[in-house]
Amino acid sequence: MKNTVTTFQKMKQNGEKISMLTCYDYSTAKLMEAAGINSILVGDSLGNVMLGYPDTISVTMEDMITYGAAVSRGTNDTMVVIDMPFMSYQVSIEQAVTNAGRLMKEGRANAVKLEGGAAVCPQIKAITDAGIPVVAHLGLTPQSINALGGNKVQGKTEEAAREMLDDALKVQEAGAFAVVLECVPAPLATLITEKLTIPTIGIGAGNGCDGQVLVYQDMLGLYSDFVPKFVKQFVKLGDEMTKAFRAYDEEVKSQAFPDEAHSFKMNNTEVLDRLY
Ligand code: KIV
Repeated sequence: MKNTVTTFQKMKQNGEKISMLTCYDYSTAKLMEAAGINSILVGDSLGNVMLGYPDTISVTMEDMITYGAAVSRGTNDTMVVIDMPFMSYQVSIEQAVTNAGRLMKEGRANAVKLEGGAAVCPQIKAITDAGIPVVAHLGLTPQSINALGGNKVQGKTEEAAREMLDDALKVQEAGAFAVVLECVPAPLATLITEKLTIPTIGIGAGNGCDGQVLVYQDMLGLYSDFVPKFVKQFVKLGDEMTKAFRAYDEEVKSQAFPDEAHSFKMNNTEVLDRLY
């Protein structure tokens, strides 16, 4: 079944949970689709896990288009959401719509995601008015890491919690069809989920959200620079990969690889004699 804004809305109404994972390449996207994941987020977290930056600030539109298009080529039914990178939507509404359009046309996204609440509602409205579905992102918004003073849980005080709820209602009103809640205390995320008619997708926001998202390198145990408290490693693939790389290294050096089974034969080797 194709995952769309309509099926997401129905899933919320029916109490069915939405699964989302980040992804940045064709082969992994195909595996996620085969596993029945509802949505892939081509997150600007690719700055960290693919490009090795300490944050998402340096990620460009070209990065998002290249990785987004690769993911789109690997999917049919999975909803592909591509992140709008830092400074691709903040400067002006016109630039926001132009860049969202590029992610749709060149990245073949089904929707775009941008970070922020009330401050970006004019952008959310203009992008949705242009026929582009928008996912909002509240709580810890990594593009504002310098303003937030680090990766901290958000919405812990009454004032901050009220502001987040207000922001959630405002992005919904502006036209967002879903909202990511990152690093939000579970009871607050549950309350926001109950107050909204659009689905919430949590990451470090507890079990009360309408769906969950994780960075795939985190959930596969592939990224070891920093493992946040909310990450569950469903497998330690990093260890398995290191084992395989070590085995390859040993076999190359001992000449156990390539063996006959992995080499090509030649029927008439006499021709080679003439080359000596
Ligand atoms: O960029 C990303 O991967 C994200 C998720 C953490 C939600 O925005």
